[in-house]
Amino acid sequence: MNKPEEALKVGIIGCGMISKAYLTASQNLLDIDIVKCADLNMEAAKAKAEEYGLLPMAVDELLADPEIEIVLNLTIPAAHAQVNKQILNAGKHAYCEKPFAVDLEDGREVLELAKEKGLRVGCAPDTFLGAGNQTCRKILDDGWIGNVLSGTAFMMSAGVENWHSNPGFYYLKGGGPLFDMGPYYITALVNLLGPVGSVCAAGKKGFSERIRTCDDRYGEIYPVEVNTHVTGNLLFKNGAVITLVMSFDVKKHSHKPIELYGETGTLQVPDPNTFSGPVNLSMKGGEWMEAPLSHGYDEQMRSIGVADMARAIKTNTPARASGDLAFHVLEVMHALERSSAERFFVDIESEPEQPAPLPLHLQPGKLDE
Ligand SMILES: NC(=O)c1ccc[n+]([C@@H]2O[C@H](COP(=O)([O-])OP(=O)(O)OC[C@H]3O[C@@H](n4cnc5c(N)ncnc54)[C@H](O)[C@@H]3O)[C@@H](O)[C@H]2O)c1
Repeated sequence: MNKPEEALKVGIIGCGMISKAYLTASQNLLDIDIVKCADLNMEAAKAKAEEYGLLPMAVDELLADPEIEIVLNLTIPAAHAQVNKQILNAGKHAYCEKPFAVDLEDGREVLELAKEKGLRVGCAPDTFLGAGNQTCRKILDDGWIGNVLSGTAFMMSAGVENWHSNPGFYYLKGGGPLFDMGPYYITALVNLLGPVGSVCAAGKKGFSERIRTCDDRYGEIYPVEVNTHVTGNLLFKNGAVITLVMSFDVKKHSHKPIELYGETGTLQVPDPNTFSGPVNLSMKGGEWMEAPLSHGYDEQMRSIGVADMARAIKTNTPARASGDLAFHVLEVMHALERSSAERFFVDIESEPEQPAPLPLHLQPGKLDE
């Protein structure tokens, strides 16, 4: 896809595994043009640059580059907040991978710095802008199942040491199933139901260490700092009570990713780590029906959140995958951890706007009409 002149120029910091998904999908989005990349490891930057026709450079060089307006921070969780601050201090808009930060205070500082500088900060996940979650949003907004009373959200797997090239950080502070996968589920739920008001939880560490079971580093051992099984309840401001289970300790299960139980029907929300369906609906206890997807973007579209932030910058409107939303999700995750450790309900202070739904019938590559 040829990029229009008004596409904002984007640079990447962090050329690891996930950068491929951004570089591939962004080619089909009109609001952004990724042109340069950097990494602490220059070889990683050079390899990505060669594969996708970018200019590789040192991190400082990228931050000083006047052509770059948005920097995409695809570093590891422990570096997110610090790199976001570097980007904002360099006078550029920042968009980072999830989680928004490891510590809540760092997340707050990033939000405040962005406000002070008059810059945008955004954060993954952007899967809620995909066809699956947007279709669910339309079904709920149009009242098909009435008010949502309750629901369940399950992400349970055997962990990442059987496939990821660098799994160690997933078991350290800032990782674990809650901080790694929770953002997909909680963001999808906030998009559907609005903000969370309070939480309670219980968690445990299933294993004290994890053993790598893939490639030629088979057998490497990783220490576990975080809970690898977290179960909790999210009490949404709109009254819905959602039971959430996030685990890296489960070999197999048969739960759906998200089900919402409304006054008059049930909605099965597709895996929020994907952009597509299926969206299944049962009215008044009747048979399941698969709903047609009302929206586009039903394939891997990581970077659609950055494109939406670029659209928001150009039109001076709110971005959907915003820092405020990501901070709320971070606060909910910290509150779940705190509730589990201290055994009481925790109230959530932040209250972001529910993101605006995407319009129907968007032209491919566009985020507004
Ligand atoms: N791998 C996945 O499937 C996946 C999926 C969704 C989201 N994510 C998220 O994406 C982020 C990155 O994950 P990944 O799997 O690509 O990790 P990775 O380890 O493969 O890549 C991270 C890259 O960032 C670089 N880096 C780290 N700190 C840096 C710093 N301070 N400055 C510059 N470069 C730095 C590293 O050298 C490395 O090349 C994480 O937040 C993760 O949660 C990963």
